[in-house]
Amino acid sequence: ARTVKLAVIPGDGIGPEVVAEGLKVLSAVAPRHDLAFDTTTYELGAKRWHATGETLPDAVEEELRGHEAIFLGAVGDPSVPSGVLERGLLLRLRFAFAHYVNLRPVRLYPGVTCPLADTAPEDVDMLVVREGTEGPYAGMGGVLRKGTPGEIATQDSVNTRFGVERVVRYAFEKAAARPRRKLTLVHKDNVLTFAGELWQRVVREVGAEYPQVSVDYCHVDAATMFFVTRPQRFDVVVTDNLFGDIITDLGAAVAGGIGLAASGNINPENAFPSMFEPVHGSAPDIAGQAKADPTATVLSAAIMLDHLGLGAAAREIENAVADDLQARAKDGWERSTPQIGDDLARRVAEQG
Ligand code: NAD
Ligand code: IPM
Ligand code: MN
Repeated sequence: ARTVKLAVIPGDGIGPEVVAEGLKVLSAVAPRHDLAFDTTTYELGAKRWHATGETLPDAVEEELRGHEAIFLGAVGDPSVPSGVLERGLLLRLRFAFAHYVNLRPVRLYPGVTCPLADTAPEDVDMLVVREGTEGPYAGMGGVLRKGTPGEIATQDSVNTRFGVERVVRYAFEKAAARPRRKLTLVHKDNVLTFAGELWQRVVREVGAEYPQVSVDYCHVDAATMFFVTRPQRFDVVVTDNLFGDIITDLGAAVAGGIGLAASGNINPENAFPSMFEPVHGSAPDIAGQAKADPTATVLSAAIMLDHLGLGAAAREIENAVADDLQARAKDGWERSTPQIGDDLARRVAEQG
């Protein structure tokens, strides 16, 4: 038997609601693969910040480091100034644990309503490899002459050769392993000339080691158009942290909604625990009403199992989700968050 030491951060808003369902599904898949999850739950987020002023105490970061993976719901709350929890907790973990790959599959499951006309599941199957530790997220910059008419705010985009190369290399590896073997760099090199040229050069140089992968380039503004008009155009997409954030919410909408979009914040070398979470946030507008779709979180658990080398278990979860989405398409019935979680757990447990 293998025991996975798993840290759980339910977080804010719908985070705890969807994480509970993700854990149900993990409990259902575990015995089928001689697995156990040894979970420790960490109360981090708005409640803790209000009570103690802490976002992520150093001691907690140290404890998290000792886990094999982190399973996270969402952070951010209207009662906390914007950015405090997002930066102090979520981004801090991505940076501290070198989650330089933010892996975001964009797949249209059969039966799911796509907002694009005449679009079939085989038309939407991309893998966005979003850089996770640099770009405008780095926190460089500042404010001058605050509160005066001459105020200046800068937010610098950090792009290191090291940081760009490692994520580009990962994207080439992924592209080489997929049937279409295509990689698209999405950037804005016509305007962001310093960073754009570095990304282009690194893609060219690393690409020389992957002659079997065809490479192209798309400006990010055009990419948003093609996501909607011609999603077939994309296989693996590699892009900067901020561009990747934006295009993956769009990708989620194209693939049936933000309630289905999964992600992994991955340190491929396993020097640190990787962290798995839905693409969506804490959704304060529906929190506490059992309206959140836990499917994105459940699919993030599948990405986690893949990362842990438990591909067979991951496939069972994906199959259960695929069956559930088909059933949903037929019946169109309304279910609460726990009902969807229960149905997914049952489908996992009952698989042949
Ligand atoms: P959001 O993703 O929380 O919500 C956007 C819309 O999608 C809302 O209408 C919401 O109800 C809906 N939605 C989201 N998840 C859903 C689900 N599982 N099922 C059904 N509907 C769902 O984004 P936002 O409103 O821009 O941000 C809200 C808060 O979450 C902010 O504090 C933001 O900083 C934070 N946030 C956190 C993360 C994260 O923890 N990774 C990601 C995005 C946003
Ligand atoms: C996401 C979120 C985060 C991001 C925020 C909350 C820091 O939008 O995970 O997509 O921008 O990366
Ligand atoms: Mn986002």
